[in-house]
Amino acid sequence: MKELLAVAVVISGRGSNMEAIARAAQAADRGYRVVRVVADRASAGGLARAAALGIPTAVVPVKEFADRTAFEAALAAELEASGAGLIVLAGFMRILSPDFVRRFEGRLLNIHPSLLPAYKGLDTHARVLAARDSHHGASVHFVTAELDGGPVIMQGRLRVQSGDTPETISARVHALEHIIYPHVCALIAAGRVAWRRGTVYYDGQPLASPLLEENDAAA
Ligand code: GRF
Repeated sequence: MKELLAVAVVISGRGSNMEAIARAAQAADRGYRVVRVVADRASAGGLARAAALGIPTAVVPVKEFADRTAFEAALAAELEASGAGLIVLAGFMRILSPDFVRRFEGRLLNIHPSLLPAYKGLDTHARVLAARDSHHGASVHFVTAELDGGPVIMQGRLRVQSGDTPETISARVHALEHIIYPHVCALIAAGRVAWRRGTVYYDGQPLASPLLEENDAAA
């Protein structure tokens, strides 16, 4: 049997994406398994969710480190010790240094709640609504030193509805995230998506534009 790709998930908050990624692999053979969930704070709600799923957890408490370099050294040590071949940031609320990103280049993913390159940074739902955009969504991308700027692998896209609030649209974006993030992990585990020297390949060809999941029905 093919060995499963070991995935570590890094969180700061409630960890619903972490749970979706872990549950997908527990429910069916997706070619990967979540071997560790790491949080930068003990209060992260996702830690209890991970423990309930039987996944080992660790806390690297950012506040207890003198500076970012010391924190990142501890985080990197934790991730290396987990044996993970793929590291998935899921609601991790810190900006990683170029050195850290370089160390894990090509095996570090993030999910961002917008159709990148639109709306990098925070408060994406409110900004989309203020701009009266017709569509919104989420993007899974490889992490590079540029914030929210690495090559996008897959997007989930939905239509903005009249009467949407940041809360209603956030719920629909989350539902899409829970589909696309496990999907990308499975594609990487299968070797169908790969990073080679800064370029994303899909089934052996450079990926010209992100894979797209359209879902206007997402609750
Ligand atoms: C998601 O919306 C993700 O796009 C962003 O942070 C949120 C994390 O949510 N990076 P959760 O902790 O996975 O529920």
